Amino acid sequence: MQKETLLNESPVPAWLLHESQAGLREALAAQRFRWLVTGAAGFIGSNLVETLLVLGQEVRGMDNFATGHRRNLHEIRSRVGDMRWRNFGFQEADIRDARACDAAVDGVDFVLHQAALGSVPRSVKDPIASHDVNATGFLNMLDASRRAGVRRFVYAASSSTYGDEPNLPKREERIGNPLSPYAVTKLVNEIYASVYARTYGFASIGLRYFNAFGPRQDPDGAYAAVIPKWIAAMLSGEDVQINGDGETSRDFCYVGNVVQANLRAALRAELASSEVYNVAVGGRTTLNDLFHVIRDGLAGLGYAYHKQPAHRDFRAGDVRHSQADVSKAQRELGHVPLVDLRAGMTEALPWYVDFLTNTKRVRAS
Ligand SMILES: NC(=O)c1ccc[n+]([C@@H]2O[C@H](COP(=O)([O-])OP(=O)(O)OC[C@H]3O[C@@H](n4cnc5c(N)ncnc54)[C@H](O)[C@@H]3O)[C@@H](O)[C@H]2O)c1
Repeated sequence: MQKETLLNESPVPAWLLHESQAGLREALAAQRFRWLVTGAAGFIGSNLVETLLVLGQEVRGMDNFATGHRRNLHEIRSRVGDMRWRNFGFQEADIRDARACDAAVDGVDFVLHQAALGSVPRSVKDPIASHDVNATGFLNMLDASRRAGVRRFVYAASSSTYGDEPNLPKREERIGNPLSPYAVTKLVNEIYASVYARTYGFASIGLRYFNAFGPRQDPDGAYAAVIPKWIAAMLSGEDVQINGDGETSRDFCYVGNVVQANLRAALRAELASSEVYNVAVGGRTTLNDLFHVIRDGLAGLGYAYHKQPAHRDFRAGDVRHSQADVSKAQRELGHVPLVDLRAGMTEALPWYVDFLTNTKRVRAS
């Protein structure tokens, strides 16, 4: 009862109030766990932290601000309020530092490991840096978690692991050859996770995210993801660049679906071996269609964009088509990807309008 009152007072994500999420809400209302979220100042990490705090959980965040921002932590604080913010502790540290990882996992029930250097092109430009953080840093966190005896280690895997596997939709057990250094690092995560289950009996869950998007995904920089980059371009009247003919397709997944998958993976009771799950909606949208979804959404908010997109060369390391089979996550985690691309865009666009207006890159309409 008290928990319901708390929920009503907080910015509870709409998906969490859906009837299919009652079990999740009850499980978290029944007990206050201790969570470690690595990459807490990043896009997905900050959304995880916010939802956990809204649910009255105790959360430790770890980040070195390589690609994340303090402003994301400030935003969480203002959204959850001072009372819940007291349940958050933050450690500014690097996952390449094994001792810092030991300190971070101390006394924690669940680890949601998100920290990494994202982006395929970044890894093509600097494979060593991506390897250091995504492979060595991952191993530090995995090993620290094993030695500390955490109840569950959940980590951000990636759809890039499907590589050149041509069949659609992508099923967890059928992967091809990696097409970029980034994809290698994410595959290495899965291999280590499975070896740790067999060698040490330390089972974990990898979540292969498919093109996540939503509030707080960084629109800036050379390695920004397509959705925030295009929203920012449209709002500031700049050209939208499409790599290739625009028929490249992706299974765009709203961050609320990603948060739900993490919570379900952590709370899943029995687990003998390491498992990986696709986290997506199961849809397929071309870049040309995505352009229209964003343009229509912004028009609905009073921000008309009249330019046509500019096409340029395909990008090295990119996969042509991507669409997930989400049935394993549905069956074994009870994951229900409630928010599709359009609904997710409706949640995300006002955030970008606010953010870009406040940072004076776009005039209020
Ligand atoms: N966004 C997607 O579509 C997507 C898709 C597949 C997988 N993933 C994975 O999900 C995770 C989160 O991605 P995101 O989109 O939120 O990216 P992000 O860049 O917003 O967040 C990553 C966070 O990790 C932190 N970090 C980086 N290196 C670190 C280090 N050495 N020590 C401590 N912290 C460090 C960054 O500062 C940042 O806050 C990553 O593992 C990424 O590879 C994301």
